[in-house]
Amino acid sequence: MKQAAFQIVLPAIGASSNRGAMGWCNISLIETGDRTILFDTGSNDDRPELLAELARMGVDVKDIDAVFLSHFHYDHCCNIEVFEDADIYVSARELEYVLSGEFKTYGDPYIPYGMIRYYEQRFIPFADGEELFPGLRTLALPGHTPGVSGLILEESRVVLTGDSVKNAYDYTHGIPPYAIYDAEKGLESYTRIPPVADTIVPGHGRPFSVREGRISYVGEQKPVDMMIFPNLEHLDALEERACHRIIL
Ligand SMILES: [Fe+2]
Repeated sequence: MKQAAFQIVLPAIGASSNRGAMGWCNISLIETGDRTILFDTGSNDDRPELLAELARMGVDVKDIDAVFLSHFHYDHCCNIEVFEDADIYVSARELEYVLSGEFKTYGDPYIPYGMIRYYEQRFIPFADGEELFPGLRTLALPGHTPGVSGLILEESRVVLTGDSVKNAYDYTHGIPPYAIYDAEKGLESYTRIPPVADTIVPGHGRPFSVREGRISYVGEQKPVDMMIFPNLEHLDALEERACHRIIL
């Protein structure tokens, strides 16, 4: 059996503003040899580039057998409608968190509730520690939300964490992930990772491993073109609009 491997389709952008976090998460493709799995789907505004990047990678939408959702925040789950033929997996706990209305008790503003209800029948719930596919096992990492779950590529000791780990800095400095649910549980979840994985694909930062007390980033970071449109009063200002290619 071919060893399961991941590739970043769209890279996370770790950025925030006083209008809230800019919700650009890692979207990853996992290939096992006989299955192609998308880990998280990004948000609506990721959709054009997600489809374009998949096409550049030679992956047709219909080639995606399964979509794994780390959790139900909008910046991770809002493109499921594109993957009409895929099985969509989410943890049973996260499904309960949303469908029972529990998310409202935490004032979680990031749940696209109407969309989730609309697609309710499509979600396939899983438990902690379940082997979804040969060599791919779920790992409950609660804290950010109650049901946020990682997926372990067991043979290569990689874990994709969603927002249970936001980035390498937080993880290595003992800073809990931004927690809608429980920051302490978020820190406890960090301790579940080293026994099963050496490489972490976080929700909003570059994939990394920790070696001899140092962060070692894994793989090339795809560049991001970021445009910022300042309000300028003179009429020939178009070329002064800022377009920056950034590599985080
Ligand atoms: Fe999140």
